[in-house]
Amino acid sequence: MRCLLASMDGMSSAAFRSLCFEYGADGATTEMIGAAGVARAKRRRAPVMEALLTRRPEEGELAAQLLGSDPEILARAAARLEALNRFDLIEINMGCPARVAIRSGNGAALLREPEKCGAILRAVCGAVSLPVRLKLRLGWDDAHITAPEIARMAEDAGARAVILHGRTKLQMYSGEVNLEAMRRVREAVSIPLYANGAVVRAGDAARFARAVGADGVCIGRAALKSPWIFDDIRRLERGEKVAQRDAAERVGALLRFAERLCAQKPERFAIQEMRKYSQWFLEGLTGADALFERVKAAQTLDEYRGLHECFLNGLARANDLYVHPERVHSAPLDTR
Ligand SMILES: Cc1cc2nc3c(=O)[nH]c(=O)nc-3n(C[C@H](O)[C@H](O)[C@H](O)COP(=O)(O)O)c2cc1C
Repeated sequence: MRCLLASMDGMSSAAFRSLCFEYGADGATTEMIGAAGVARAKRRRAPVMEALLTRRPEEGELAAQLLGSDPEILARAAARLEALNRFDLIEINMGCPARVAIRSGNGAALLREPEKCGAILRAVCGAVSLPVRLKLRLGWDDAHITAPEIARMAEDAGARAVILHGRTKLQMYSGEVNLEAMRRVREAVSIPLYANGAVVRAGDAARFARAVGADGVCIGRAALKSPWIFDDIRRLERGEKVAQRDAAERVGALLRFAERLCAQKPERFAIQEMRKYSQWFLEGLTGADALFERVKAAQTLDEYRGLHECFLNGLARANDLYVHPERVHSAPLDTR
């Protein structure tokens, strides 16, 4: 079963993706990229666009995700991305429920216009030789489940895979995924289908894929707290238990992540962004609350690193000082 990291705006940076690849993700997608911005001919790209288009050496199969609704602009943008020679796939976003996307007719707004979706998919598939993948939701609401029809159009247009978020636009990010409707999409296409939206723990992945009849899963939010979820899924597939990630491993992952994020954007912003990951990766560990308080004030990579190293040293000292009661009782008496 293949396990992909989902596209997450503001989160799935090259730095974060590289961590997920190190933990065994089979593929990942960039944050969404506005097609109009890519299609516009500019000799020099803005730093924000440059960051979105970054690919790190640790990364495996990487899709570039485009957001837009004009077939011609999307096709031109896809061709430009292909010309960068940096991505393995082009992914089209037909799922974003954010107001700003919907207002412009992008993302999930397209689910109300299957014919337009068909035109977009034909235009993009015709413009590139890279494989094209579609990321979509079930439909606008429960009364309008258009994903089976749109996925079928994608396959007919030449798309090579579909990532299906099992919720409607109206559900946004909560509520149960609709397995029955997901299975209808499965039946509508024979290209690979990745199920998305119901993996909270590693143990959910195989169950979810089986329930949908999917070829794999695509994981978003769960990876933000546990990028090692990809490795845990592999362990479960081999019949092993999920690994206990100790403080040293979690801090190691955070520091690699922080170094890479600092290479991608100004240090101060990168470190501000890392604060939430410290909380997510270290949640529940002894002494972590005190660390979170201090990390709030960190401005530089050195400060961030120093605080986490102190945290680890503190844990090590606490372990040295701690004498297990059994050891006290069984210790030989000093009779000298
Ligand atoms: C913060 C955030 C940003 C997201 N940005 C995107 C995006 O840019 N493109 C996209 O296709 N989906 C985006 N999504 C949706 C996720 O890719 C995924 O479909 C959704 O979170 C459900 O999967 P999950 O339950 O595994 O998180 C975003 C989700 C979150 C939480």
